[in-house]
Amino acid sequence: MDIKKLYNGVEIPAVGFGTWQLTEGVHEVIEHALQAGYTHIDTAAVYKNEQEIGEAIKKNGIDRSSLFITSKVWNNDRGYDNTLRAFETSLSRLQMDYLDLYLIHWPANPTRENAQQENADTWRALEELYQAGKVKAIGLSNFLKHHIEAVLDNATIKPMVNQLEIHPGYLQTETVDYCKKQEIVVEAWSPIGSGRLLQNESLLAIASSYGVSVATLCLQFLLQEGFVVLPKSTNPKNIRYNLHFERFTIRNDDMEAIKALPTTGFSGLNPDEINF
Ligand code: A2P
Repeated sequence: MDIKKLYNGVEIPAVGFGTWQLTEGVHEVIEHALQAGYTHIDTAAVYKNEQEIGEAIKKNGIDRSSLFITSKVWNNDRGYDNTLRAFETSLSRLQMDYLDLYLIHWPANPTRENAQQENADTWRALEELYQAGKVKAIGLSNFLKHHIEAVLDNATIKPMVNQLEIHPGYLQTETVDYCKKQEIVVEAWSPIGSGRLLQNESLLAIASSYGVSVATLCLQFLLQEGFVVLPKSTNPKNIRYNLHFERFTIRNDDMEAIKALPTTGFSGLNPDEINF
């Protein structure tokens, strides 16, 4: 399986299992994912499925050390003390004694008073957890270039990861280029545009020229661009397929055509506009 290395040497499987909006049948879906061979599972406190994910992992009996588990601190737990508490709650729900990756779920909106201080205090808590060995890597989620720059102004440890909405039609080039320069690995949430890209005519045409589905084309495109991808599915066939599809090479002209797509499939969740 494809593995990427974070700048601190930690290895991260390049295809992870996304669990946003997975609230029904969690045990069964996670069991399908584990049976399919996923070792990387992405959750968050706000997804309200940590408990079930932890139970499903325990029931499956897979060795904890073979897994890569990510969770995230939610917006109402920002700040140093709250974040440390939220981390322990996530750990106990997951029934684990460490996480592989812990992220700040969203930046405090710049229109909020003290937004920068809130982000800095939350980051300081993540640094503390990392230094205490409770988490193997720390990072950000939905942070745009200017949010990351502000975190770096006060940080002693640079984030290893930034998780963003990334898919054909929404490539967030400015932030991604900045992350690359900073050696921050970018994880793509909603890599298939939460299904909104499946009927896109330009992508259908390119996909059919390779004899693959749009879902496969999106994942191959993102892996080829160096992203970690976090596809979501509750369908056992798609779950398996998204991990095991035969890798191929998208030609340069098609890569460029995909990059040139106008904005499409965007969730509407702009970190600068929504006031969490
Ligand atoms: P399903 O659960 O029926 O598989 P994203 O990962 O971008 O958030 O997209 C998730 C959506 O894409 C879900 O609706 C999921 O539906 C669908 N999906 C995931 N993988 C595939 C696939 N390999 N083929 C078709 N649809 C897929």
